[in-house]
Amino acid sequence: MCGIVGYVGSKNAVPILLNGLDKLEYRGYDSAGLYIMNNRNEGFVFKAKGRINALREEIDPSVQASVGIGHTRWATHGEPSAINAHPHQSFSQRFTLVHNGVIENYQEIKEQYLDETLLLSDTDTEIIVHMLAYFSEKEHLPTLDALRQTLSLLKGSYAIALIDESQPGTIFAAKNKSPLLLGKGEGFNVICSDAMAMIKETNQFVELMDKEIAIVTKDELIIENANGDSLSRDAYTAEFDSEDLEKGAYPYYMAKEIDEQPAVLRRVVQAYQTQEGNLHVDQVIVDAMLQSDRLYIIAAGTSYHAGLVGKRLFEQLSGIPTEVHVASEFGYHMPILSNNPFFIFISQSGETADSRQVLVSVNEKNYPSLTITNAVGSTLSRESTFTLLLHAGPEIAVASTKAYTAQISVMAILSEVIGLEKGVITESTMKHNLSTAAVAIQSIIESKELIEDLASKQLSLTDHAFFIGRGLDHLVALEAALKLKEISYIHTEGFAAGELKHGTIALIEKGTPIIAFVTEKTTAGHTRGNVQETIARGANTVIISMDGLSRPEDHVIIPEVHPLLTPLVSVIPAQLLAYYASLHRGNDVDKPRNLAKSVTVE
Ligand code: F6R
Repeated sequence: MCGIVGYVGSKNAVPILLNGLDKLEYRGYDSAGLYIMNNRNEGFVFKAKGRINALREEIDPSVQASVGIGHTRWATHGEPSAINAHPHQSFSQRFTLVHNGVIENYQEIKEQYLDETLLLSDTDTEIIVHMLAYFSEKEHLPTLDALRQTLSLLKGSYAIALIDESQPGTIFAAKNKSPLLLGKGEGFNVICSDAMAMIKETNQFVELMDKEIAIVTKDELIIENANGDSLSRDAYTAEFDSEDLEKGAYPYYMAKEIDEQPAVLRRVVQAYQTQEGNLHVDQVIVDAMLQSDRLYIIAAGTSYHAGLVGKRLFEQLSGIPTEVHVASEFGYHMPILSNNPFFIFISQSGETADSRQVLVSVNEKNYPSLTITNAVGSTLSRESTFTLLLHAGPEIAVASTKAYTAQISVMAILSEVIGLEKGVITESTMKHNLSTAAVAIQSIIESKELIEDLASKQLSLTDHAFFIGRGLDHLVALEAALKLKEISYIHTEGFAAGELKHGTIALIEKGTPIIAFVTEKTTAGHTRGNVQETIARGANTVIISMDGLSRPEDHVIIPEVHPLLTPLVSVIPAQLLAYYASLHRGNDVDKPRNLAKSVTVE
């Protein structure tokens, strides 16, 4: 959460930094700020509450700069406001700093060193800049030593960029747990939380690792470890199709990303097949999983919901018992593990702090792990034993759509490959099943007007909504509810249909929307019975059923697909319902309130 950028070079830094912040807005968008130094070494701070466009309006267009740092914030400590927006400055204005992360011991540091100091903001960040001033101005340490000394006090997570006015043309950067990349250019260098922010300037990036410090000038990138030893590290090439980063003709990224799903499924199949066209996963991963007696899937939010579907795939196709855990719970309340556990981290961003804290303890215990992620080189990918990529292309809307379907697709392939090797199944059908699912998704997308109409009738005005289903349909109901609530702000719950009568049915009143999924043969009749119970109490019902189980009065009928892959298709009307509900209610679909795309704080 929070995004940071920095530029030092001979071009005007202002548009480069603002463009970078636009690309990082997915990480937080409650306020933003810039610090720039012009060629006469005069520093300027600009800050604004709200989006990057609000910051743009604050900036004096005549200011040109050759060095600068910028920040887009997702508030943790202190309300969204211009005062709490970064950058923060020392009182002398010599040091200016932006920070992504949470300093857990900022109160203690304040009490110990800055007791007399009246802080200007409510943030945990501001103490960092005052401690720099303390060590350099009171204890007369050179900047780098003052920075090292300051960092040694900090507990928690940070990616920081710092400019010392007395050393113009240099950005100091450091990180612990929060991501930070250094970008290399000809006659310039950059820093950023995500390569996407600076891909217009360069595609050559070097990762900064925990506890390292970088000294960035226009001609040099120096990396040092905590002891001050110089390190050398090769740059990697970030591969983005710049069109993937644009909305094109779509009004919102979410609309584009929903529509991309058939192509994503096909891309996943392509990525995991041999030249002969057989599904294939790196044998070392398969071997490691075959040695395991139990899989532990760890994830958060939508990725957790994909993990729930993954459990069904691994148990039924691979024959390996599988548990799925919410990352933020698992880390601090670990259950008794099996003898040979294998951990699977599912994370679109690969940066989720809740999942990462589990991975840290998994690594301490030397358990093997696999990260399934969309982000090459992300923290979870780097720190786990193995990685499988989603190949979904950048997902920019905060509400996850194509990552969910890609996650399930990758797990479907992996579970089949393992199942075949283990002899649990004998025939490879997944490639065909996924391509049938891609066609089915396309057909739902083509009938989106029908779903827009349902959203406008059922979800324009309501305060509550419920999704119900059984088996895999229940799991999709959970994801559907998350999607609807996070972008429409309608209070929505997903339930196992059979559970309604055990309590929740008390909430059903005249007009309450109930959206039921009916794609499972064995339980279809029961779910329909549950729907009738809600109709008897005045609910407005929408039924999303699968061909073969559908009735003429059903509202959305999805084509028949493999019974383990129904979530790939039944989730599409739910994504579209959420999209249109949000749109009709006048919300910012891509940037719902209070949220950020990459959740890098616990
Ligand atoms: C919801 C959503 C979130 C994420 C969750 C985990 O639409 O996007 O619930 O799924 O924050 O994020 P990743 O997958 O990046 O670990």
